[in-house]
Amino acid sequence: MSKIDIGELRKALGSYATGIAVVTTVDTTGKPVGMTISSFASVSLSPPLVLWSIDRKSDLFETFAQASHYAIHILRKDQEDVSNNFATDKNDKFARQAYETGLSNLPLLPDYIARFQCAIEHRYDGGDHIILVGRILDMQHKPAEPLLFHDGQYKTVS
Ligand SMILES: Cc1cc2nc3c(=O)[nH]c(=O)nc-3n(C[C@H](O)[C@H](O)[C@H](O)COP(=O)(O)O)c2cc1C
Repeated sequence: MSKIDIGELRKALGSYATGIAVVTTVDTTGKPVGMTISSFASVSLSPPLVLWSIDRKSDLFETFAQASHYAIHILRKDQEDVSNNFATDKNDKFARQAYETGLSNLPLLPDYIARFQCAIEHRYDGGDHIILVGRILDMQHKPAEPLLFHDGQYKTVS
């Protein structure tokens, strides 16, 4: 088997176009936290399950690994600023971000295409990530054009 170059692997994996989501939860002190992700995927309709994966090197790894719930927000095409804010390693990503409080104190962003409030159902080892499978407890859907990510860049459908 040929040796896999990590840079080439990253580029090849980036050729798979995805949407962009922001996942949020509260830490053990009750502080709202969140991060931008592209690893979101639907898993099951009945029961309603979704998944995403978090890098073990993330500052938020321990918080999400121990959380009982998370909220996923699928972003609209005009929400690049929201994606950029939640993709930084800033400690205060909610400083200028309005939010509501949901189930289990989840911080909920007011703008999204779809929003899922989930309880963690399974945690799986995924190499340098862990895979967090959540059961959807509540959802909202406001159809609009999505923000996409492809080859390391934001894109839109049209
Ligand atoms: C488009 C995009 C997709 C991302 N997808 C993921 C992901 O699926 N999982 C992950 O752990 N980090 C992902 N990241 C990186 C996190 O957003 C980033 O590491 C995090 O917000 C930095 O803060 P932290 O150190 O507090 O985690 C992504 C970043 C961008 C810009």
